[in-house]
Amino acid sequence: MRLFEPVTINGTELRNRLVMPAMVLNQATEEGFVNEDVVQHYAARAKGGVGMIIVEATGVLDRKSGRLLKIYDDKFIPGLRQVAEIIHEGGAKANIQLVHFLRISRSGWRETPADLSLKDVQQVVDDFAGASVRIREAGFDALELHMAHGYTLSSFLSLIGNNRGDSYGRSLEGRLRLPTEVYNKVRSEVGRDFVVGCRVNADDFVLGGSTLKHSRAIVTRLDRLGIDYISVSVGGRPEDGPRYAGYSGSRAMPTSDMPDAVNVSLAADLKRQVKAPVIAAGKIPTAALAESILQEGQADLIGIARPLLADPDFPNKAKDGRLKEIRRCTYCCKCCVLDRNFEHVYCVTWAGHDKRKSCTKE
Ligand SMILES: Cc1cc2nc3c(=O)[nH]c(=O)nc-3n(C[C@H](O)[C@H](O)[C@H](O)COP(=O)(O)O)c2cc1C
Repeated sequence: MRLFEPVTINGTELRNRLVMPAMVLNQATEEGFVNEDVVQHYAARAKGGVGMIIVEATGVLDRKSGRLLKIYDDKFIPGLRQVAEIIHEGGAKANIQLVHFLRISRSGWRETPADLSLKDVQQVVDDFAGASVRIREAGFDALELHMAHGYTLSSFLSLIGNNRGDSYGRSLEGRLRLPTEVYNKVRSEVGRDFVVGCRVNADDFVLGGSTLKHSRAIVTRLDRLGIDYISVSVGGRPEDGPRYAGYSGSRAMPTSDMPDAVNVSLAADLKRQVKAPVIAAGKIPTAALAESILQEGQADLIGIARPLLADPDFPNKAKDGRLKEIRRCTYCCKCCVLDRNFEHVYCVTWAGHDKRKSCTKE
């Protein structure tokens, strides 16, 4: 199967084309440090045979946000080094998603791109650059710039999210300016030989938001700049309900009511615009379906997120043909609800989870 053949991204060889996309666990310490639960979570997934693990969205700035991992200071390097090492021990490549997010108050007020001064905008660039140097020092093979869903870079890129009237808004060129500056600075800090990828929205799935028409231009620009891969996601915009509560949110984490591979045609469209490898994700439940997506040339790598919460050994079991042994994700989205409520994320299906925390009987 092509799925289980090695693939190389900017000189880094992955043992296969299965990728674990970023999934926030709300499991770090309150300050954002790695703890043993975090290490063991990634150890199990690496041992299970996936080619590359993209560690959950990790904050590049010093701002409170539940139990998100952080990397705004050197003090976070030792913990993250442990994560990179344990992923390598399991034979996978270690990637990490870097995220910058705007302020949200308890009353529901949200900061928008227009609220940021030019100095604040420059600080976003510096925050990503500082974090990227630390990630390389921590021993990771790659980093991913989070430009999707409802976070700062996505909000600058988004037609509905970006309300600025200056050169960081107004037009597609303006909306691309901050993500371009972030990419260029990160690249100059980590060097040409380090894998720098990004995650983008193919479509915001909200009225007035960006569509394929815009994301084609966005990925074309990132490709020209020299991005090493493009991970395609969709939705997750707060204009349609906070914390993934609306339709835009459920397209980002497709539910059992949606068809399999619901977002793959969008990834395939963006793949046609670029030379960089493309990762498709979103309700791809079986290795057979993943293989057919590769065979049809719709994507270069396959992201399986919740299936790896349900069964960390999915890749090895699929590779060995032990299909009946795989604990299948039902896309019930209980894990999404936990994430939405800033609670510790786990899967009610996985036998390895802490049963005391389970909300259903096995
Ligand atoms: C609990 C949870 C947390 C997530 N956290 C992130 C995140 O930190 N960054 C991100 O880009 N996507 C995040 N996602 C989206 C996943 O990476 C993935 O794209 C989505 O779940 C669709 O893939 P799947 O159907 O294989 O689960 C999260 C999804 C879940 C269920």
